[in-house]
Amino acid sequence: MLDSNIRLGCFFINKTFSITQITIGAALVTVILYKGNSSVLVTLFFVYDSQTCTKCDREKIMENTLEDMVALVTGSGRGMGRTHAELLASRGADVIVHDMDKKNANETVEVVRALGRKAEAIISDVCDVKDFSSKIKQMEYKFGKIDILVNNAGIGGNKLVLEDIDELVYDRLFDTHVRGTFFATRSVIPGMKERNYGKIINISSIYAMGGSNFASHYAAAKSAISGLTKSWAREFAPWKICCNAVAPGFILTDMTRGSNTIEMLEARSKAMPLGRFTKSIEISYSVCWLASRECDMITGQVISPNSGEVIVGY
Ligand SMILES: NC(=O)c1ccc[n+]([C@@H]2O[C@H](COP(=O)([O-])OP(=O)(O)OC[C@H]3O[C@@H](n4cnc5c(N)ncnc54)[C@H](O)[C@@H]3O)[C@@H](O)[C@H]2O)c1
Repeated sequence: MLDSNIRLGCFFINKTFSITQITIGAALVTVILYKGNSSVLVTLFFVYDSQTCTKCDREKIMENTLEDMVALVTGSGRGMGRTHAELLASRGADVIVHDMDKKNANETVEVVRALGRKAEAIISDVCDVKDFSSKIKQMEYKFGKIDILVNNAGIGGNKLVLEDIDELVYDRLFDTHVRGTFFATRSVIPGMKERNYGKIINISSIYAMGGSNFASHYAAAKSAISGLTKSWAREFAPWKICCNAVAPGFILTDMTRGSNTIEMLEARSKAMPLGRFTKSIEISYSVCWLASRECDMITGQVISPNSGEVIVGY
């Protein structure tokens, strides 16, 4: 308790600065106590981790917004790709739509624009590396950057058994999934490295985790995508570029609708531990979460929204 004839002088300096990538806050508080002709000077010096301590920084970290981000979603003319584009846009991202089907791609562009975001379409086959890469570069120039790449374009394995998978079928499937993912990523990486920021989200499959009793070429291609994800996570980490994969379980889209009868779908749906199939939008939730700043410290992971059908290590 201060005496009535004790006077108080107080100086306060607060500054934040970064040491080895940790933001430090430092505060210097000097208190001078005067009594009559004598004075005592007390100086207190505090250092704190400002990222965990200040309210505004905490809010910034917990934001799930994608405002000011530019996303490229391959194969976003229909199916899950379109849902990813739509959810990314509704969270604030501008979207570069891509597909080899022009009509579908343009429809997705309209969906994104209706949400108030910028959108343009690339029409290209992911297997045509020269054409697709040069169109990605043109769009990167037009949008100023690409922060998020979702490698989604894909074709199904059509329940083929080994004897029915010839070289043509094998090559087309591997080229679409692996070559497409590989070279689309190769096109966006230089820009991401320049800006020290990026999110690569590859679409794998539960077949890469639990195998499949048909379409082994599809399971192998999706396993390759999981492998790329883990290697790229290590390779790009110095530039703060995160690379993760989403491995959906069975999702009812145009890809899967044709190869399953209603009876087969009903039986499989009932067998799901969570009681129903996962929906496209529920895959997009994972994609958008991995694309957000909430996941700045998550890389090299494969997460699988699959209604509990495959639980690794179970
Ligand atoms: N549907 C499922 O059950 C399921 C499960 C696990 C993983 N996946 C994966 O999710 C992704 C999306 O699947 P979907 O079910 O939405 O399929 P979909 O067939 O509805 O959509 C795929 C899109 O990719 C485009 N595409 C295909 N090959 C292309 C190419 N060479 N160049 C450019 N565009 C191309 C198609 O035109 C289409 O618009 C695929 O990678 C698929 O393998 C799907």
